[in-house]
Amino acid sequence: MKDSTPQTIFLSDYTPFGWLIDSVHLTFDLAAHATRVISRIAFRPNPDAPAQQFFLHGKDLTLINARIDGQDIQPDISDEGLSCPVPEGSFIWEAEVEIDPTNNTALEGLYVSNGMYCTQCEAEGFRKITYYPDRPDVMAVFTVEIKGPHPVLLSNGNPQTVGTGHAIWHDPWPKPSYLFALVAGDLVAHSDWFMTASGNKVDLNLWVRPGDEGKCAFGMSALKRAMQWDEQVYGREYDLDVFNIVAVDDFNMGAMENKGLNIFNSSAVLASPETSTDANFERIESIIAHEYFHNWTGNRITCRDWFQLCLKEGLTVFRDAQFTADIRSAPVKRISDVIDLRTRQFPEDDGPLSHPVRPESFQEINNFYTATVYEKGAEVIGMLKRLVGDSAYAEALELYFARYDGQAITIEDWLAVFEDITERDLTQFKRWYSQAGTPRLSVKETYGSGSYTLTFTQHTPPGSYSPDPQPQVIPIDVGLLNANGDEVLETQTLEMTEATQSFTFEGLASRPIPSILRDFSAPVILERDSNNDERAFLLAHDTDPFNRWEAGRALARETLCAMATKGSAPDTRYLDGIRSVLRDKALDPAYRALMLELPTQSELALFMSDRGLTPDPAAIYDAVQSLKQAMAEQLRENLPTILDANIVRQEYKPDAVQSGKRALYGAALALMSRLDDGSLAAMQYAQADNMTLQLGALSCLLEVDKGALELGAFYDQWQDDRLVIDKWFALQITRATPDRAVAVTRALTKHPDFNWKNPNRFRATLGALTGNHAGFHAADGSGYELLADWLIRLDPVNPQTTARMCTAFQTWRRYDASRQALIGAQLDRIAATPDLSGDVTEMITRIKA
Ligand code: PHE
Ligand code: ZN
Repeated sequence: MKDSTPQTIFLSDYTPFGWLIDSVHLTFDLAAHATRVISRIAFRPNPDAPAQQFFLHGKDLTLINARIDGQDIQPDISDEGLSCPVPEGSFIWEAEVEIDPTNNTALEGLYVSNGMYCTQCEAEGFRKITYYPDRPDVMAVFTVEIKGPHPVLLSNGNPQTVGTGHAIWHDPWPKPSYLFALVAGDLVAHSDWFMTASGNKVDLNLWVRPGDEGKCAFGMSALKRAMQWDEQVYGREYDLDVFNIVAVDDFNMGAMENKGLNIFNSSAVLASPETSTDANFERIESIIAHEYFHNWTGNRITCRDWFQLCLKEGLTVFRDAQFTADIRSAPVKRISDVIDLRTRQFPEDDGPLSHPVRPESFQEINNFYTATVYEKGAEVIGMLKRLVGDSAYAEALELYFARYDGQAITIEDWLAVFEDITERDLTQFKRWYSQAGTPRLSVKETYGSGSYTLTFTQHTPPGSYSPDPQPQVIPIDVGLLNANGDEVLETQTLEMTEATQSFTFEGLASRPIPSILRDFSAPVILERDSNNDERAFLLAHDTDPFNRWEAGRALARETLCAMATKGSAPDTRYLDGIRSVLRDKALDPAYRALMLELPTQSELALFMSDRGLTPDPAAIYDAVQSLKQAMAEQLRENLPTILDANIVRQEYKPDAVQSGKRALYGAALALMSRLDDGSLAAMQYAQADNMTLQLGALSCLLEVDKGALELGAFYDQWQDDRLVIDKWFALQITRATPDRAVAVTRALTKHPDFNWKNPNRFRATLGALTGNHAGFHAADGSGYELLADWLIRLDPVNPQTTARMCTAFQTWRRYDASRQALIGAQLDRIAATPDLSGDVTEMITRIKA
């Protein structure tokens, strides 16, 4: 079952497959350890492909027999697949293989989760099911027959025959094998329906294990909202008679967009007010939308090869963000996305794992489902839309769907529709897809006789992927304010294309205060020699909600950096500014809650290393603690009013209005707990009738070193709910003080409920440790060692999840020599593990480089 030596694959080596497929017929005879898969595939020569040997991918398969046009054959079999001579024209391939889904712990291919059969084929899992050209540019129409003693048997497309023990599904839309799916088990459906704009009635089912029926309503309503939105905004209708979603407990990622049969990590779909937080509800809504939107951006139009992954992921993330912004609050969504970008994508792009949005080589494609491909990929589309304007964007997308439906295409094809609609030359813009690294944008200003000039300079730090980065096209949204805070220039998009470029504004009565990079118009790091007076001014007056928040965030970063490195006192301009914002009832509570949130400790670490400082995790932690204390003191008089005004007394709804109030209430409660030793939080915990408040109150208690009793009671109350117990594991680690985080994590790995083969539980535990910045970076290296122990243990079981968690080490070069040595030793220890998977080998090699 071991991977062979990793091989590097290059974009430039792309060659089409030598055959086209007219039809695929699969028969599954399900059995726990010996499932039989019979395939019947009609091949025909591909006129556009060079001559080549016939090769089908296949991994961990036992070939029982194979035939070409009815004649038995003996193919050449290797670890990666098989080859054999084939007739010159069309032919029928038939094979029977045996697989063992029960021992498939990697959760790729066909596997069993809690007695339920399910599949995960993206990116290259189909080759663990049968021999096939397992590449996205081979699209085919599938018919799937399933035999097994299960009440529910599902596959892609529309059902033809369905009953216990036997089902036939037919998917009329040609698709690549990575979108294949099969589910079998004892499942129950939460059902509903949707009428498309053209009047087709679609049956909707959310399939769950018996007992989870009560957690389906929200996911179903989110699906219907997403279907309607895609019709209204993108003119995209659903194209089958049924749409099925299945929840599974063991899943490496969030969810998967298989045609007509989306498979979800149960954490990304199951929700109820008692067991899920507002944040869970919002995440579920966006993931359901994301997977649904893939039906057009990903499935109907797919990727030619895996280098083009951002073609479907960047666009689909962009679409799901538009959806959330539309149905909730646009500024709150934008701010949350930028926080996420800075926490996950900036560190990736700033270290050894940095790669372009469209990489040009890889060893293991599973390692490229990254924040850069997804989130920076979405930012690039946002920039394109900003540059061409909303109506050209809409026209380009219309053309995109019309021109490429049913095809497997590239980023060049995507950009071509924008070039055709706008007659712009996008050659330089394309660097966003080919260059790695986060551009730094610095700005200087001059003012004289009514004329104001902003001069920008862009610089991208060179990295291994892009040793000599060239200037990129950067849309910079700018507005100008006068000293009273009135806008003297409304937001304009400046289009920067040079390394250094000036923009002049005439006719100004006085020197303006600039508001730069409004709405975070480009994924860059703005380096501005501004001062805290100007930041405080913008925090009070900026008319752009993003930049107003950003001014507060920048003030917080500055003061925390000074506190951590120079022992300074908290900046009163920050404390005063935050108080004014907090008291401003005209501002959305969700927005005010975001204002109260401090920069993450890893964000501060990146900020410091960007300034040539070596971040000290313990000092950063202490600075954050004392700033929180100072905020609590500062707001002592205001907190009771805010708490009172934002308590939700109506019946729980996970909508934007209520969840905004609960977010502000929770943020105020955390500060209050520092003043009253957690007594209000304890009261709220005892009364809580929803998970947002229950978990929020518990978090406040743990943060002030209280809550031991509540923690025990929480476990007793929820021990039978897997998703809630994941929260119980994670919260204790997240809230542990740096000196205790490793011990708490270690103790939890010995808990009887630490089912480490379940990716959610593993992430709730070891993932939570890596999120506790100062705890993970404990000076004695115990955090590194504990993580490495578990990565080594998980690798043979589930290389994909192991490889993803190696990213915790990607920032190692920014820390002091002692920590670098400690991390380096753990990286070496992992690398030296016998039979290490190809996935982890690639990650460790890149991190060490
Ligand atoms: N394609 C999935 C998504 O973005 C993510 C995924 C990738 C899931 C690989 C499983 C495996 O929605
Ligand atoms: Zn996706």
